[in-house]
Amino acid sequence: MNDAKPLRDRVAVITGGSNGIGAAAVREIAMLGANVVIGYHSSEERARKLLETLPPADHAVARLELKDETSFAALADELGIRYGKLDILVNSAGFTRAIPHGDLDTLTDQLFEDILIANVCGPYSAVRALRPLLRASGDAVVINVSSISGFTASGSNVAYCASKAALDNMTASLARVLGPEIRLLAVSPGAVATDFVPGRDRSALEAGAKATPLKRVIEPDDVAAAIVACITHLKASTGTRIVVDGGRHL
Ligand SMILES: NC(=O)c1ccc[n+]([C@@H]2O[C@H](COP(=O)([O-])OP(=O)(O)OC[C@H]3O[C@@H](n4cnc5c(N)ncnc54)[C@H](OP(=O)(O)O)[C@@H]3O)[C@@H](O)[C@H]2O)c1
Repeated sequence: MNDAKPLRDRVAVITGGSNGIGAAAVREIAMLGANVVIGYHSSEERARKLLETLPPADHAVARLELKDETSFAALADELGIRYGKLDILVNSAGFTRAIPHGDLDTLTDQLFEDILIANVCGPYSAVRALRPLLRASGDAVVINVSSISGFTASGSNVAYCASKAALDNMTASLARVLGPEIRLLAVSPGAVATDFVPGRDRSALEAGAKATPLKRVIEPDDVAAAIVACITHLKASTGTRIVVDGGRHL
Protein backbone atom coordinates (compact mmCIF):
# COMPACT_ATOMS: atom_id res chain seq x y z
CA MET A 1 0.00 0.00 0.00
CA ASN A 2 1.68 3.23 -1.13
CA ASP A 3 -0.77 5.73 0.36
CA ALA A 4 0.10 6.21 4.05
CA LYS A 5 -3.43 7.48 4.73
CA PRO A 6 -5.69 5.10 2.76
CA LEU A 7 -8.70 5.93 4.97
CA ARG A 8 -8.51 9.71 4.50
CA ASP A 9 -12.04 11.24 4.32
CA ARG A 10 -13.56 7.99 5.60
CA VAL A 11 -15.82 8.04 8.65
CA ALA A 12 -15.61 5.25 11.23
CA VAL A 13 -17.66 4.45 14.33
CA ILE A 14 -16.18 2.07 16.88
CA THR A 15 -18.53 0.91 19.64
CA GLY A 16 -16.57 -0.04 22.75
CA GLY A 17 -13.89 2.31 21.47
CA SER A 18 -13.05 3.47 24.98
CA ASN A 19 -11.15 0.32 25.93
CA GLY A 20 -9.34 -2.88 24.90
CA ILE A 21 -9.82 -4.10 21.34
CA GLY A 22 -12.05 -1.15 20.40
CA ALA A 23 -9.45 1.39 21.56
CA ALA A 24 -6.71 -0.39 19.58
CA ALA A 25 -8.98 -0.28 16.50
CA VAL A 26 -9.61 3.44 17.08
CA ARG A 27 -5.85 4.13 17.09
CA GLU A 28 -5.13 2.06 13.96
CA ILE A 29 -8.06 3.40 11.92
CA ALA A 30 -7.27 7.00 12.90
CA MET A 31 -3.61 6.47 12.00
CA LEU A 32 -4.74 5.52 8.49
CA GLY A 33 -6.44 8.90 8.15
CA ALA A 34 -10.13 8.28 9.01
CA ASN A 35 -12.40 10.53 11.06
CA VAL A 36 -13.22 8.35 14.06
CA VAL A 37 -16.19 8.39 16.43
CA ILE A 38 -15.23 6.70 19.70
CA GLY A 39 -18.24 4.96 21.24
CA TYR A 40 -18.12 4.65 25.02
CA HIS A 41 -20.54 3.51 27.70
CA SER A 42 -19.27 4.39 31.20
CA SER A 43 -15.75 5.65 30.37
CA GLU A 44 -16.27 9.11 28.90
CA GLU A 45 -13.01 10.45 30.32
CA ARG A 46 -11.00 7.55 28.87
CA ALA A 47 -12.68 8.08 25.48
CA ARG A 48 -11.85 11.80 25.52
CA LYS A 49 -8.23 11.15 26.55
CA LEU A 50 -7.89 8.66 23.68
CA LEU A 51 -9.30 11.23 21.26
CA GLU A 52 -6.60 13.72 22.32
CA THR A 53 -3.86 11.25 21.28
CA LEU A 54 -5.18 10.73 17.73
CA PRO A 55 -3.70 12.37 14.62
CA PRO A 56 -5.74 15.48 13.75
CA ALA A 57 -9.05 14.88 11.90
CA ASP A 58 -12.74 15.41 12.58
CA HIS A 59 -12.97 12.93 15.49
CA ALA A 60 -15.74 12.75 18.10
CA VAL A 61 -16.93 10.72 21.07
CA ALA A 62 -20.47 9.35 21.54
CA ARG A 63 -22.16 7.67 24.48
CA LEU A 64 -23.77 4.41 23.36
CA GLU A 65 -25.84 1.85 25.27
CA LEU A 66 -25.99 -1.59 23.66
CA LYS A 67 -29.34 -2.27 25.32
CA ASP A 68 -30.97 0.95 24.09
CA GLU A 69 -31.73 1.25 20.39
CA THR A 70 -32.51 4.95 20.81
CA SER A 71 -28.83 5.63 21.51
CA PHE A 72 -28.01 4.36 17.99
CA ALA A 73 -30.87 6.36 16.46
CA ALA A 74 -29.47 9.50 18.15
CA LEU A 75 -26.00 8.64 16.84
CA ALA A 76 -27.39 8.27 13.30
CA ASP A 77 -28.92 11.75 13.54
CA GLU A 78 -25.62 13.28 14.73
CA LEU A 79 -23.55 11.49 12.08
CA GLY A 80 -25.99 12.53 9.35
CA ILE A 81 -25.56 16.18 10.26
CA ARG A 82 -21.82 16.05 10.86
CA TYR A 83 -20.57 13.70 8.11
CA GLY A 84 -23.54 12.70 5.91
CA LYS A 85 -22.30 9.09 5.62
CA LEU A 86 -20.62 6.24 7.46
CA ASP A 87 -17.91 4.05 5.86
CA ILE A 88 -16.78 1.82 8.72
CA LEU A 89 -18.71 0.42 11.69
CA VAL A 90 -16.80 -1.69 14.21
CA ASN A 91 -19.10 -3.31 16.77
CA SER A 92 -16.58 -4.05 19.50
CA ALA A 93 -18.63 -3.29 22.63
CA GLY A 94 -19.70 -6.42 24.47
CA PHE A 95 -20.62 -7.79 27.86
CA THR A 96 -19.97 -10.98 29.84
CA ARG A 97 -19.56 -12.47 33.31
CA ALA A 98 -17.23 -15.33 34.25
CA ILE A 99 -19.53 -18.25 35.22
CA PRO A 100 -18.52 -21.93 35.01
CA HIS A 101 -20.63 -23.68 32.35
CA GLY A 102 -21.99 -26.17 34.92
CA ASP A 103 -23.30 -23.42 37.22
CA LEU A 104 -26.85 -23.02 35.91
CA ASP A 105 -27.99 -21.37 39.16
CA THR A 106 -25.76 -18.32 38.70
CA LEU A 107 -26.52 -17.89 34.98
CA THR A 108 -30.15 -16.86 35.52
CA ASP A 109 -32.66 -16.39 32.70
CA GLN A 110 -32.41 -12.64 33.25
CA LEU A 111 -28.61 -12.61 32.91
CA PHE A 112 -28.85 -14.87 29.84
CA GLU A 113 -31.23 -12.35 28.26
CA ASP A 114 -29.04 -9.37 29.22
CA ILE A 115 -26.02 -10.99 27.53
CA LEU A 116 -27.97 -11.78 24.35
CA ILE A 117 -29.45 -8.30 24.20
CA ALA A 118 -26.06 -6.63 24.62
CA ASN A 119 -24.02 -8.88 22.31
CA VAL A 120 -26.57 -9.63 19.58
CA CYS A 121 -29.33 -7.00 19.64
CA GLY A 122 -26.77 -4.22 20.29
CA PRO A 123 -24.86 -4.78 17.02
CA TYR A 124 -28.19 -5.33 15.24
CA SER A 125 -29.54 -1.99 16.53
CA ALA A 126 -26.34 -0.30 15.38
CA VAL A 127 -26.57 -1.71 11.85
CA ARG A 128 -30.30 -1.02 11.62
CA ALA A 129 -30.01 2.61 12.72
CA LEU A 130 -26.85 3.36 10.73
CA ARG A 131 -27.81 1.47 7.53
CA PRO A 132 -28.88 4.58 5.52
CA LEU A 133 -25.54 6.25 6.31
CA LEU A 134 -23.62 3.06 5.46
CA ARG A 135 -25.50 2.83 2.15
CA ALA A 136 -24.56 6.48 1.47
CA SER A 137 -20.88 5.46 1.64
CA GLY A 138 -21.26 3.11 -1.34
CA ASP A 139 -18.26 1.07 -0.07
CA ALA A 140 -19.01 0.38 3.58
CA VAL A 141 -17.91 -2.37 5.92
CA VAL A 142 -19.30 -3.54 9.27
CA ILE A 143 -16.98 -5.57 11.47
CA ASN A 144 -18.61 -7.44 14.34
CA VAL A 145 -16.10 -8.37 17.01
CA SER A 146 -17.21 -11.89 17.80
CA SER A 147 -15.28 -14.70 19.54
CA ILE A 148 -14.08 -18.23 18.96
CA SER A 149 -16.55 -19.01 21.80
CA GLY A 150 -19.23 -18.82 19.10
CA PHE A 151 -17.99 -22.05 17.50
CA THR A 152 -15.96 -23.74 20.26
CA ALA A 153 -18.76 -23.39 22.87
CA SER A 154 -15.98 -22.68 25.35
CA GLY A 155 -15.73 -19.27 26.99
CA SER A 156 -16.77 -17.11 29.92
CA ASN A 157 -20.29 -18.59 30.21
CA VAL A 158 -22.94 -20.52 28.28
CA ALA A 159 -24.92 -17.42 27.30
CA TYR A 160 -21.80 -15.61 26.08
CA CYS A 161 -20.93 -18.53 23.76
CA ALA A 162 -24.52 -18.61 22.46
CA SER A 163 -24.48 -14.85 21.91
CA LYS A 164 -21.34 -15.00 19.76
CA ALA A 165 -22.75 -17.92 17.72
CA ALA A 166 -25.82 -15.78 17.12
CA LEU A 167 -23.63 -12.81 16.17
CA ASP A 168 -21.75 -14.93 13.60
CA ASN A 169 -25.03 -16.17 12.15
CA MET A 170 -26.48 -12.65 12.00
CA THR A 171 -23.30 -11.40 10.29
CA ALA A 172 -23.89 -13.93 7.50
CA SER A 173 -27.62 -13.14 7.17
CA LEU A 174 -27.06 -9.40 6.98
CA ALA A 175 -24.16 -9.82 4.54
CA ARG A 176 -26.53 -11.63 2.18
CA VAL A 177 -29.05 -8.78 2.13
CA LEU A 178 -26.94 -5.62 2.55
CA GLY A 179 -24.47 -6.08 -0.33
CA PRO A 180 -23.14 -4.78 -2.58
CA GLU A 181 -22.92 -1.42 -0.77
CA ILE A 182 -22.21 -2.92 2.66
CA ARG A 183 -19.87 -5.82 3.53
CA LEU A 184 -20.13 -7.53 6.92
CA LEU A 185 -17.36 -9.55 8.56
CA ALA A 186 -16.90 -11.10 11.98
CA VAL A 187 -13.48 -10.93 13.60
CA SER A 188 -13.24 -13.75 16.14
CA PRO A 189 -10.48 -13.53 18.73
CA GLY A 190 -9.51 -16.11 21.31
CA ALA A 191 -8.47 -14.84 24.75
CA VAL A 192 -7.15 -11.26 24.40
CA ALA A 193 -5.15 -9.24 26.94
CA THR A 194 -7.90 -6.78 27.99
CA ASP A 195 -10.07 -6.16 31.06
CA PHE A 196 -13.02 -7.99 29.46
CA VAL A 197 -13.19 -11.03 31.77
CA PRO A 198 -13.07 -9.86 35.40
CA GLY A 199 -10.48 -11.78 37.41
CA ARG A 200 -8.48 -13.07 34.41
CA ASP A 201 -4.94 -11.76 34.85
CA ARG A 202 -1.81 -11.77 32.67
CA SER A 203 -0.49 -15.01 34.16
CA ALA A 204 -3.74 -16.81 33.27
CA LEU A 205 -3.48 -15.47 29.71
CA GLU A 206 0.17 -16.58 29.47
CA ALA A 207 -0.64 -20.06 30.79
CA GLY A 208 -3.48 -20.41 28.26
CA ALA A 209 -1.29 -19.17 25.42
CA LYS A 210 1.35 -21.86 26.12
CA ALA A 211 -1.21 -24.50 25.12
CA THR A 212 -1.85 -22.92 21.68
CA PRO A 213 0.12 -23.60 18.47
CA LEU A 214 1.55 -20.04 18.28
CA LYS A 215 2.25 -19.87 22.06
CA ARG A 216 1.66 -16.13 22.25
CA VAL A 217 -0.78 -13.98 24.16
CA ILE A 218 -3.14 -12.25 21.72
CA GLU A 219 -2.92 -8.47 22.18
CA PRO A 220 -5.60 -5.89 21.29
CA ASP A 221 -3.30 -4.68 18.48
CA ASP A 222 -3.37 -8.17 16.90
CA VAL A 223 -7.17 -7.96 16.68
CA ALA A 224 -7.03 -4.35 15.45
CA ALA A 225 -4.69 -5.47 12.65
CA ALA A 226 -7.30 -8.02 11.51
CA ILE A 227 -10.01 -5.35 11.66
CA VAL A 228 -7.90 -3.06 9.48
CA ALA A 229 -7.27 -5.92 7.02
CA CYS A 230 -11.04 -6.39 6.72
CA ILE A 231 -11.41 -2.70 5.88
CA THR A 232 -8.49 -2.20 3.54
CA HIS A 233 -7.72 -5.58 1.96
CA LEU A 234 -10.55 -8.13 2.16
CA LYS A 235 -12.72 -6.31 -0.36
CA ALA A 236 -14.09 -9.52 -1.90
CA SER A 237 -15.10 -11.05 1.43
CA THR A 238 -18.43 -10.74 3.21
CA GLY A 239 -20.50 -12.86 5.59
CA THR A 240 -17.59 -14.83 6.99
CA ARG A 241 -15.24 -14.72 9.96
CA ILE A 242 -11.57 -14.02 10.49
CA VAL A 243 -10.13 -15.93 13.46
CA VAL A 244 -7.38 -14.28 15.56
CA ASP A 245 -6.51 -16.79 18.27
CA GLY A 246 -2.97 -18.12 17.72
CA GLY A 247 -4.60 -21.42 16.75
CA ARG A 248 -6.30 -21.88 20.14
CA HIS A 249 -9.40 -23.45 18.58
CA LEU A 250 -7.44 -26.25 16.85
N1 LIG B 1 -10.83 -9.90 25.65
C1 LIG B 1 -11.11 -11.12 25.20
O1 LIG B 1 -10.54 -12.13 25.68
C2 LIG B 1 -12.08 -11.30 24.06
C3 LIG B 1 -12.04 -12.51 23.37
C4 LIG B 1 -12.94 -12.70 22.32
C5 LIG B 1 -13.82 -11.71 21.99
N2 LIG B 1 -13.83 -10.54 22.69
C6 LIG B 1 -14.81 -9.52 22.31
O2 LIG B 1 -14.13 -8.31 22.08
C7 LIG B 1 -15.04 -7.22 22.28
C8 LIG B 1 -14.33 -6.11 23.04
O3 LIG B 1 -13.92 -6.62 24.29
P1 LIG B 1 -12.56 -6.12 24.98
O4 LIG B 1 -11.75 -7.32 25.22
O5 LIG B 1 -11.99 -4.98 24.26
O6 LIG B 1 -13.17 -5.66 26.40
P2 LIG B 1 -13.05 -4.32 27.25
O7 LIG B 1 -11.66 -3.82 27.22
O8 LIG B 1 -13.68 -4.65 28.56
O9 LIG B 1 -13.98 -3.29 26.46
C9 LIG B 1 -15.37 -3.46 26.42
C10 LIG B 1 -15.97 -2.23 25.78
O10 LIG B 1 -17.39 -2.41 25.69
C11 LIG B 1 -18.04 -1.23 26.17
N3 LIG B 1 -19.33 -1.61 26.77
C12 LIG B 1 -19.54 -2.47 27.78
N4 LIG B 1 -20.86 -2.55 28.07
C13 LIG B 1 -21.48 -1.71 27.22
C14 LIG B 1 -22.84 -1.32 27.01
N5 LIG B 1 -23.83 -1.84 27.77
N6 LIG B 1 -23.13 -0.42 26.04
C15 LIG B 1 -22.15 0.11 25.26
N7 LIG B 1 -20.84 -0.20 25.40
C16 LIG B 1 -20.52 -1.09 26.38
C17 LIG B 1 -17.09 -0.67 27.21
O11 LIG B 1 -17.35 0.73 27.34
P3 LIG B 1 -16.97 1.56 28.71
O12 LIG B 1 -15.59 1.09 29.14
O13 LIG B 1 -17.01 2.98 28.23
O14 LIG B 1 -18.02 1.26 29.71
C18 LIG B 1 -15.74 -0.97 26.59
O15 LIG B 1 -15.35 0.05 25.70
C19 LIG B 1 -16.27 -7.80 22.99
O16 LIG B 1 -17.33 -7.88 22.06
C20 LIG B 1 -15.82 -9.21 23.39
O17 LIG B 1 -16.89 -10.12 23.39
C21 LIG B 1 -12.96 -10.31 23.72
